[in-house]
Amino acid sequence: MDRRRFLTLAATTLAIPGLIGRAHANPVAGQSLPIPDILDVTGSADAVLEAIRGTTAFVEGGAARTTGYSQPYLGPVLRMRRGEIARPVLRNRLDIPVTAHWHGAHVPGAVDGGTQLAVAPGASWAPELEIDQPAATLWYHSHIHGQTGRQVYHGLAGMMIVEDPGAQNLGLPSAWGVDDIPVIIQDRRFGRGGHFAYDLDMPTVMHGVRGDTVLVNGAVQPNASVARGLVRLRLLNGSNARIYTLKLDDGRGFHQIASDGGFLPAPVARDALVLAPAERAEIVVDLSDGATVRLVSLPDTNAPMGGMMGGGGMMRRMMGGMAGTDPEAVTDDGAFAVLSLTPDRPAPAGQALPRTLAGAPAPISDEPVRRRRIGLQMGPMAMRGAGNPLAINGKAYDMGRVDFETRRGEVELWEVSSDMMAHPFHIHGTSFTVLSRNGRRELFEQMGAKDVLLVDGEAEILVEFRKPADRATPYMFHCHILEHEDGGMMGQFTVA
Ligand code: C2O
Ligand code: CU
Ligand code: CU
Repeated sequence: MDRRRFLTLAATTLAIPGLIGRAHANPVAGQSLPIPDILDVTGSADAVLEAIRGTTAFVEGGAARTTGYSQPYLGPVLRMRRGEIARPVLRNRLDIPVTAHWHGAHVPGAVDGGTQLAVAPGASWAPELEIDQPAATLWYHSHIHGQTGRQVYHGLAGMMIVEDPGAQNLGLPSAWGVDDIPVIIQDRRFGRGGHFAYDLDMPTVMHGVRGDTVLVNGAVQPNASVARGLVRLRLLNGSNARIYTLKLDDGRGFHQIASDGGFLPAPVARDALVLAPAERAEIVVDLSDGATVRLVSLPDTNAPMGGMMGGGGMMRRMMGGMAGTDPEAVTDDGAFAVLSLTPDRPAPAGQALPRTLAGAPAPISDEPVRRRRIGLQMGPMAMRGAGNPLAINGKAYDMGRVDFETRRGEVELWEVSSDMMAHPFHIHGTSFTVLSRNGRRELFEQMGAKDVLLVDGEAEILVEFRKPADRATPYMFHCHILEHEDGGMMGQFTVA
């Protein structure tokens, strides 16, 4: 595609909101929050994930064709203990190749479930994962090149929890489904018959797929019956492209206790939290007053047109939600409902918010051995080199090309820059420390260890390579707007 054609296509984005309109069918909101089962993958010998097809009724009088791991949509929560070997088995019962990528896990490239590790229809995959990282909330999802967006949208994703028996936080809410709540947030759009509408044209690919309906754990804006006390929410943005700005609708604050790579050194008081695609955060909300509150989100303003038209302002806001794709607002500032919390269950005894958090990862303190520039490119910038509207450093992703080689134990400083809009940048196989964004210093106490960082301009991160990845199964680094990743904004590297 040449530059003029791209610009024409991008400009038609302006017409899209009118075309989309609201969903045809009425989503059934307010059901009770499904709490996924826990599948222990270190304790049990038989931790099988079966990629299967199903149907799921999200809207009145309709059902969507969905896929999931051992269930019709999404999958069980995989629990693994540090210091043990996890032995998940993936069986592919679908007629398309799939993978299970352990997003955020510090495991070698050979078992990380990236694009090279496709499991053919009818085949199985049984990796051994040595769990060697702090307690954290991670996730897993399929990662077939060019199909990741479609496959995750239809349900091939789930949450993963690493526990660290050597670092226990006594008092931290930990009763599953009572005061320790998994919250997988996704936005979807429904078409005729209640099916998912995952239709890609160039503007949608550029923008990333958004939906006008919010799902949590596969239910539309559900209600969770929780403890009347401290409630821990394990937040995972499992959306393809939407960025959430989460807060509580009655204005109460909360404490963030963990980010992607595990606990923060100490709880951080916040009023709101931005969660980009693939990011995780654990928060503790005090509901001991017994009042029902809603977790809500401000609309997403991330859009390529804002950048193209000189950035910021009205245009960016207008294009941000692609108008018709924002869920209906429930508060004056335009926030929409994500999840209601009704504290109608007795709080487990001994709940407390520790002053400092045991087992929090430490910042990377070594001197970097080299600097590396990673340019996340989009539109005219990308096409100059890659001949493709989505690229990194002038090249669109190529499964057969290793972009660079690194060495175990070495620390590198990566300067990541973005074009045209904000991009959530992700690296496989490790966690990194954020030094700065747009020249402003970022504090480890606030950010924690990360594996996804929203880059809108420039960011500096310190990356340490912890596990090996050879040329046959290199690690990927990419934008986690899944349509950008599928479209070529991805690269791969080895660790010797
Ligand atoms: Cu969430 Cu390359 O992955
Ligand atoms: Cu990953
Ligand atoms: Cu992107």
